[in-house]
Parts: sequence; structure tokens; C-alpha cells
Amino acid sequence: TGGVTTIDPGYKNTGSCVSGITFLDGEKGILRYRGYSIEELAEKADFLEVAYLLIFGDLPTTAELDKFHADIKKHAVVDDDVKKILDAFPKSAHPMGVLSSLTSALTAFNPSSVNVESEEEMYNAIVRILGKFPILVAWTMRKKLGLPLYYGDSSLGYVENILKMMFKQPNEDKYTQNPILVNALDKLLILHADHEQNCSTSTVRIVGSSHAGLFASLSAGISALWGPLHGGANQAVLEMLEAIKEDGGDTKKYMGKAKDKADPFRLMGFGHRVYKNFDPRAKIIKVAADEVLGDLGVQDPILDIAKGLEKEALEDQYFVDRKLYPNVDFYSGIIYRAMGIPVDMFTVMFALGRLPGWIAQWREMRLRKEPIGRPRQVYIGENERAFKAIADR
Ligand code: SDX
Repeated sequence: TGGVTTIDPGYKNTGSCVSGITFLDGEKGILRYRGYSIEELAEKADFLEVAYLLIFGDLPTTAELDKFHADIKKHAVVDDDVKKILDAFPKSAHPMGVLSSLTSALTAFNPSSVNVESEEEMYNAIVRILGKFPILVAWTMRKKLGLPLYYGDSSLGYVENILKMMFKQPNEDKYTQNPILVNALDKLLILHADHEQNCSTSTVRIVGSSHAGLFASLSAGISALWGPLHGGANQAVLEMLEAIKEDGGDTKKYMGKAKDKADPFRLMGFGHRVYKNFDPRAKIIKVAADEVLGDLGVQDPILDIAKGLEKEALEDQYFVDRKLYPNVDFYSGIIYRAMGIPVDMFTVMFALGRLPGWIAQWREMRLRKEPIGRPRQVYIGENERAFKAIADR
């Protein structure tokens, strides 16, 4: 039931992974965090509650959640020298490269986060990064936009405070207390929070398995997520939809390109390594996109183009034969854009959502005292041969 198996205590980490955090069934399109369905969590929980669930295994009581948030707030500040590192980047730097660098740099200012052996030491490193990471996200965006860097307001909720840090203007604050935006971001972050052993999570686990610190492991995961075949797809989807719009909405041309083996173009936001059915997150985000744009009174032709493309693909034999459905990245960028988030910040928002999942997976691996990750290979190279002097080659 739900893939639960007992693990032989002698289990050795040979590259495949055993985890009790997230269950997904690619054929049935099922996704559960610690046994709770993504549909229920997206509807009924908030992001910090889901972060607690993923990391510690159970939904928190009010007292547990309040303490968790209070401990996080204690660390919602970064060393002022981090601003000097941020300033050293050109405005043209991609925010994922900035975020990965700043996350790794945090190690220098938080040395206690490196050699963690006890649950308490791990907890301290975890609340530190949950306090500091949203600041890095907000400052990365504001640096790019040439805006002053702000801290948030500790009286606000976790997600509301993130919006405040991202969008506060010197003389106005239109984003705080806007429930539409807070709820939209909360839901998106929940839907991105974990996804079993995807590329970036596997990266965090394998880097963490060498006992490199949590922040260094997360920095590696951010770099892996950056790729357009992974989290970078949410930016690539919007760029593709924009190109189709500029092309007069010619979706058939892009469908043709996606099927042309001679053309490296892929329909971004479609397909998945595991889901061979609808990505359950895409279903929820598609509905949320309609709701959020409606609530914000935003008419975005890009959403209509996306829906048209989805309809065409779901009726196209090439896509049907290959079980290519919209994935989590297909509609998410439409909401981010409606919220005023720059397109090259979309994957940073994915990282913000995935942070608790990465942390949960790192903690599970460390608490289980797993050996260093060491995937094996199938050797297909040369058999042994004798060296030949260069004069004889
Ligand atoms: C994420 O793993 C995770 O859980 C990731 C993620 C998470 O939450 O962490 O879910 C987040 O990364 C979602 C994926 C975002 N990436 C994209 O949307 C980029 C576009 N998608 C593709 O590049 C692709 O679908 C991948 C990378 C997602 C999967 O790539 P695979 O494993 O190579 O795809 P496949 O082997 O299943 O492909 C089978 C066939 C191939 O054609 P044939 O050789 O059989 O003729 O389908 C084709 C592929 O060429 N194909 C596509 C396609 N995806 C696969 N053709 C056109 N457009 C596409 N998007």
C-alpha cells in the first residue's frame, strides 16, 4: 500500500535510493508527501506546515508550528558582507547562479552548519537556512531590478513576508496583505516542495552524503535545478509561449518543431521522467492560473496560447504515443508573471518551493547515517592495452 517496504538494516547505498518522504506513481499520476495527497495539502495546508511535514514526518500542532516559525525568524538575517558578494555580480547574472553562490557563501558566515552530527545540530542548520534563504531570493531579485534591499516584517506569515521582501517599494507596499498573491504563492511553493529522487534532490543527497555541509549541498541542488530540462523549464516555457505569441499564435509550427528529430527543440513544460500520465501538480496549477489571473483582473493571452498548445498536444499522436503530458513547469510561470515576478526569477521560485524537500531528503540521509553515495557504472571502454611512445603512434 503506497509502496511501503521494510528495509534490510544491512542496506548499502549503491546509488539507488530508499526514502520515506514522498511517494509518486507515474502511471496513475499520484503524488503524496508523507502519505498526504498533494491535492489535500495544496487546498488545506500552508507552505510552512508542509515544510514541517516533509522535514519531520508529521503535520505539526499549532505549538510545534509556532516554535518552528519562531526559531526560523531568529535567523532571518544575513551577514552584511553578503551584500558585498551580491554587489560583485553584474545585473546580467542569472539569478540561479547568484542564488547558488550566495547559498554556498552562507557557509562562511555560519560555520556551525557544516559538521552536524546530532539531530539538534541539524535542526539548527535547518532553521538557519529556512530563515536566510528567502532573504537571498528577495535580494537576488531586487539587485537585478536595481531596488534597495529590505528585510521583511517578522510579524507577517512566512510566505507573506517573502512577498514583502521581494516587492516592497520605498513608498508603497501593495503586495503585503494581498491574500490573492499570498495564497497563490503559498500553493505554488507547496506544489514544488518535494518530488522524490529528481535530478536536483539526488544532487543534494549525493553531495550531502560526503558530509559536505547542508548549505553546500543545497547550493549544488540549485545548480542542478537551473538546467532547462529540469527546473529551468518554467522559464523556458514562458519564453516558448512568448515566441509563439510573437509568431501570431502559430502553435502548429512549434508542435512540428517538437516532433522533428532534426530539431533539438522540445515542447517545454511537457514530458516527464516518471509521470506517464498527467502531472497532478500541473492540473492544480492550471486551475490556479485561471483563478489568480481572474482575481487579479489580468488578461494574459499567453494563458490561452498555453491551453491551446495543451489541447493540440493531447490530441497529437506523437505526444499521445510518448505519453507526453504537461508537467509542473507548464503553467506555473503564467502565475509568477501575473504576480510581477521577472521571467528569469521563475526557477528561483522553484528552488524556494523545493527547499524543504531538499532539506528533508538531506536530513533523512544523514539521520540514517547512509554511506557516501557511489553510483556504479557499466564499463564500455577499451580492454587493457600497452602504452605506445609518441614517436610510434
Ligand atoms: C521537472 O524528475 C522530476 O521529478 C523533475 C520535476 C521535479 O518536480 O523535480 O518534476 C521537475 O524537471 C519537470 C520536467 C521539466 N522539463 C521540461 O519540461 C523540459 C521538456 N521536457 C523534456 O525535455 C523531457 O520530457 C524530460 C527532460 C522531462 C524527460 O526527458 P526524457 O527522459 O529524455 O524523455 P523520454 O525519454 O521520456 O522521451 C521519450 C520520447 C523521446 O522521443 P523518442 O526518442 O522516443 O522518439 O519523447 C520525446 C523524446 O524525444 N520527448 C519530447 C519531449 N519530452 C520527451 N518530445 C518533444 N517535447 C518534449 N517535451
